[in-house]
Amino acid sequence: MNNMRLTLKSRPEGRLGPEHFDRVEEDLGPLADGKARIRVLYVSLDPAMRGWVSASTDSYLPPVPLGDTMRSLGVGVVEDSKSDAYKPGDWVTGMTGWTQFLDVGPGELSVVPQVASLEDYIGILGLPGATAWYGLVVEGEAKEGQTLCVTGAAGSVGSLVGQIGKALGLRVIGIAGTQEKCDWLVNDLSFDAALNYRTDDLDKGLKEFAPGGIDLHFENVGGDPFNAALKNMAPFGRMIFCGFISVYNGEATATPPEMTAIVRKRLTLKGYVMTDHFDKFPAIFQELGKLMMEGKLKYRLDVTTGLENAPTAFNKLFDGTNKGKLAVKVADL
Ligand SMILES: NC(=O)c1ccc[n+]([C@@H]2O[C@H](COP(=O)([O-])OP(=O)(O)OC[C@H]3O[C@@H](n4cnc5c(N)ncnc54)[C@H](OP(=O)(O)O)[C@@H]3O)[C@@H](O)[C@H]2O)c1
Repeated sequence: MNNMRLTLKSRPEGRLGPEHFDRVEEDLGPLADGKARIRVLYVSLDPAMRGWVSASTDSYLPPVPLGDTMRSLGVGVVEDSKSDAYKPGDWVTGMTGWTQFLDVGPGELSVVPQVASLEDYIGILGLPGATAWYGLVVEGEAKEGQTLCVTGAAGSVGSLVGQIGKALGLRVIGIAGTQEKCDWLVNDLSFDAALNYRTDDLDKGLKEFAPGGIDLHFENVGGDPFNAALKNMAPFGRMIFCGFISVYNGEATATPPEMTAIVRKRLTLKGYVMTDHFDKFPAIFQELGKLMMEGKLKYRLDVTTGLENAPTAFNKLFDGTNKGKLAVKVADL
């Protein structure tokens, strides 16, 4: 069977591009005993992947070695199996990588129930959904009546954070990068308010929305939106750090944050990484499934077709041109 995969050729300075990958065409040969052959259907494009291709070993996962298939989450279907853990037709999720096919043993990928759409397993019932729920509810200890601010609010994680917050009875303000995204947050997702970090005065807007301060802040981007939130935290407020996409390509932040607010306001700051918590995904998906059934979670996918287009499509995350969860369709079901 013919396979195509993308392997990491060199490490980028700045943005990732097609020049950093080799396209490997190969014959997979017969399936070994104890293994299942997976046809990959979607691969997920996540901002963290920019960190995975850097040389730094000072992170929660080791760098992708040069010459290896690019690491990524994905969903696929079992094409053939010589393993008791998988049967043909099963849907699987996990670290598939940028490949059309892969052979896996027991435990390498998770079989998921076919009760939702395949696309749901990339988004709401995938890393973004788990990250949003865990960060807000477990790390954030979100409580009814609190004022919540989320940056990267129209993105894959951020849009779910805000909607889960609304479902739990919080007042929610989102910060995003275009008027279209802000309108979507307020008109379609029922956020209470939204600010455009490119055109609005964030400090003024946050003061108007939260005169008593922000009780709970969920950070996805860093830079000026983070600084504005830090300045407007309520005493004893909680800040949850999910990501800092504004610096992943090596850019410096424009303004140093007013760190004295952490002491003056007696804030609690907490960072977390969802890949530490794969064991909690099933329980979180039960909770998200309930909200989906109640029609409380809307979600959009931004899909590019063709694995070879993954390196270019990846940069939509940094241009802000992705409208929803960014993914690449590798094959039809
Ligand atoms: N801790 C974890 O386990 C975990 C898991 C998943 C994701 N994350 C983090 O969550 C964050 C969001 O990830 P996602 O997958 O949901 O992506 P996403 O929000 O769907 O897409 C990224 C968005 O970030 C915004 N952005 C890009 N550069 C920016 C900049 N310089 N300043 C302000 N905003 C910028 C853009 O929206 P605008 O148009 O609004 O600028 C873009 O659409 C990332 O920081 C990611 O690393 C963390």
